[in-house]
Amino acid sequence: MPLSSSSTSSTKSIRRAASELERSDSITSQRFMGRRQSLIEDARKEREAAAAAAEAAEATEQIVFEEEDGKALLNIFFTLRGSKTTALSRTLKVFETFESKIHHLETRPCRKLKDNLEGLEYFVRCEVHLSDVSTLISSVKRNAEDVKTTKEIKFHWFPKKIADLDRCHHLVTKFDPDLDQDHPGFTDPVYRQRRKMIGDIAFGYKHGQTITRVEYTEEEINTWREVYSTLRDLYSTHACSEYLEAFRLLERHCGYSPDNIPQLEDVSCFLRERTGFLLRPVAGLLSARDFLASLAFRVFQCTQYIRHASSPMHSPEPDCVHELLGHVPMLADRTFAQFSQVFTQGFHSTSRAGKLQYIFYFTLYWFTVEYGLCKQNGEVRAYGAGLLSSYGELVHSLSDEPEVREFDPETAAVQPYQDQDYQPVYFVSESFSDAKEKFRAYVAGIKRPFSVKYDPYTSSVEVLDNPLKIQGGLEGLKDELKVLTDAIGVLS
Ligand SMILES: [Fe+2]
Repeated sequence: MPLSSSSTSSTKSIRRAASELERSDSITSQRFMGRRQSLIEDARKEREAAAAAAEAAEATEQIVFEEEDGKALLNIFFTLRGSKTTALSRTLKVFETFESKIHHLETRPCRKLKDNLEGLEYFVRCEVHLSDVSTLISSVKRNAEDVKTTKEIKFHWFPKKIADLDRCHHLVTKFDPDLDQDHPGFTDPVYRQRRKMIGDIAFGYKHGQTITRVEYTEEEINTWREVYSTLRDLYSTHACSEYLEAFRLLERHCGYSPDNIPQLEDVSCFLRERTGFLLRPVAGLLSARDFLASLAFRVFQCTQYIRHASSPMHSPEPDCVHELLGHVPMLADRTFAQFSQVFTQGFHSTSRAGKLQYIFYFTLYWFTVEYGLCKQNGEVRAYGAGLLSSYGELVHSLSDEPEVREFDPETAAVQPYQDQDYQPVYFVSESFSDAKEKFRAYVAGIKRPFSVKYDPYTSSVEVLDNPLKIQGGLEGLKDELKVLTDAIGVLS
């Protein structure tokens, strides 16, 4: 059954991004609410706002590394002259007054003081509430000389260990059937109760646990069957070869069939063996930040409930149809899995001031993972989950109607997108490897204070912010190269 609109669950990624912005307090984010505005124009305004913010920060010296709980880490230098201890005790009293937690304190003889006065230079690294930073610095200035703070850029907290994903479950309620009057299930209390019940599985889930199975009702299976059967007929002529291969395996090993909605636990085990990806249940539309943060660990946050029976070909929010038919088969391909993870490269080091850059990541995600096309054997095929889970847009994307451009991250990142109708523009990649390398080159061109590296042995993300850490990574790389060199020697 063709769709009259492409506003399917596959629109969720950009909604995630937009919802993030809506929660933000910046002027830029409010402007971005009108999604069809020129991104380039917004970029100009963003730069102006960032410059003004930087100027203000310079003036007040509120330069901190913000933590999730509203605390800030502050590095502060100051000088106390003379040998009397009163200045020291008064200064330390300031830290006590603001209930700051001192992480590090060291001193050295001061060589800058005039008139041969003795004194000490102090360095204090402390944790203080974000709202107290400015006042604390002012108070220290009243007691000490030459007060300086180091320049640090504000970054959001992000998960470093895979278990940290238990904290990455912030939902966006905009498309919740309890709140959104346009949701097909808004007037159906039975559906809403069912959705809540399945959602509770996700709320109670912790990393490492087995995902609780859902016994789907006959009505839910009928909905699945209608979408599954309709799309399956189209895949052989429209889906890329990697998708077709994975779909065949999923039907053979994971219970993919018109009469059965696959269980997330089974699919997760299948993906782990194929590409190392894991699924974890999520109760609804996840915030964009949490969603991308999960991909860095090769974890895909996956809804478990299904769309309303009255609207089998349309859902305003993500559901298991979109995840299982759109995303999962592609995550079973090694190259695409690598691309999905690389996609988060650079994301972590996007500072709070770089909100528009953050949006560019999601726009690129939109035009690749959700709506990407690729070339195969002289034909154009679909690999985007938004296409492969939407009959209407899948047909539209490979028709003569839309404009199809070569994938170029610089262009795609600022291309206005459409979330209420079919995309007027798609981007076609030569291959996933080609798209991955182009994306890497794009990220490499973005000025960032640090990079991150995923360690598969510890399932953790390491911040590469000093040469020693990079050297450690190179040691591991050398070991892997030796293994491969040995393998070549054995074969030759
Ligand atoms: Fe999606």
